[in-house]
Amino acid sequence: MKAIILSGGKGTRLRPLTYTGAKQLVPVANKPILWYGIESIVAAGITDIGIIISPETGEEVKTKTGNGELFGANITYILQDKPAGLAHAVKIARPFLGDSPFVMYLGDNLIQDTLNPLLTNFKEQHMDALIMLRPVPNPTSFGVAEVDAQGKVLRLVEKPKVPPSNLALVGIYFFNQVIHDAIDRIQPSARGELEITDAIQNLIDHQNHVEARQIEGWWLDTGKKDDLLSANQIILDTCLVNPKIAGDLDEKTQISGRVQIGEGSRLINCTVRGPVTIGKNCHLENCFIGPYSSVADQVSLTDVDLEHSVVLQGAQISGIHQRIVDSVIGQRAHLKAAPHRPKALRFMIGDDCQVELV
Ligand code: TTP
Repeated sequence: MKAIILSGGKGTRLRPLTYTGAKQLVPVANKPILWYGIESIVAAGITDIGIIISPETGEEVKTKTGNGELFGANITYILQDKPAGLAHAVKIARPFLGDSPFVMYLGDNLIQDTLNPLLTNFKEQHMDALIMLRPVPNPTSFGVAEVDAQGKVLRLVEKPKVPPSNLALVGIYFFNQVIHDAIDRIQPSARGELEITDAIQNLIDHQNHVEARQIEGWWLDTGKKDDLLSANQIILDTCLVNPKIAGDLDEKTQISGRVQIGEGSRLINCTVRGPVTIGKNCHLENCFIGPYSSVADQVSLTDVDLEHSVVLQGAQISGIHQRIVDSVIGQRAHLKAAPHRPKALRFMIGDDCQVELV
């Protein structure tokens, strides 16, 4: 069994962050989204992993993630020269996959459920494809499945105007080698992409053994700002179990709840209410850091009141007396002094932006 993780694509919905970096490397609770996928695959006993990368962000993904040693895996990088669709990514991974069955994982997706029971199901029942479904309130934004009363998949449609059900396709799939024949039979869709939903539909049309399972736990697709904030909240809630405080706190600083602070970070006169994670070598002074905040390495915060937000590496914020909520602050962004108190601040600020409130 092998795995491929799709870490190319355009990432238009997470601009401006994706102008300067891969969306799969945007951290959730201070760890790149992509790494959660790798860990979940390795936990299912699959260590031969191909990562699909794009010419624009591939080097960054490679440099950060490495050859797999970090995860106890063997990682091969596969360059997709253009984002021509999920099924196109499988096509170019064919030399890596050979005739092996494989799990395909979208690099910006996370699920709570472990892969092991699904993998066992897929193998023991000799399926050609196993897809995962989850009810969603807005099925028009997803690939959607129509299933019969027994749970058999009848039809798949990509972002339907009139959805046949509320069951969205989760970005994790199991396939055997027949998917390659199906991909060879399909044509690019109206948006010019080789769609994996069309390939799976093609398997269904050819009477291949395609099954679906509804997943029980949470599913996060971190492709947009609010999804990223929800992912951050859920991961801080569920994964910050044994937080460590390695930084240096002065006597006025108060910590409550589950709070993690990295080495070399210094907190002066701060109140931190978990769940919160603060990276390494940060400087925080006169700050309130409220629940569900992630502050990456080398961040400087002075006179800041922050909650339910993600601050990326090297950002500097000072003198913003209004509470910053539901915000994503890009790498190396600067936010300075607000002399008057505006009513509310809600940000989506890209890497390297400079914001001054005057
Ligand atoms: P999407 O989120 O569907 O596509 P995208 O990254 O182009 O994003 P947007 O809609 O915001 O422009 O892709 C799901 C995952 O698959 C994501 O991790 C990117 C990856 N991907 C590829 O690796 N190759 C591709 O050709 C496509 C379309 C996506």
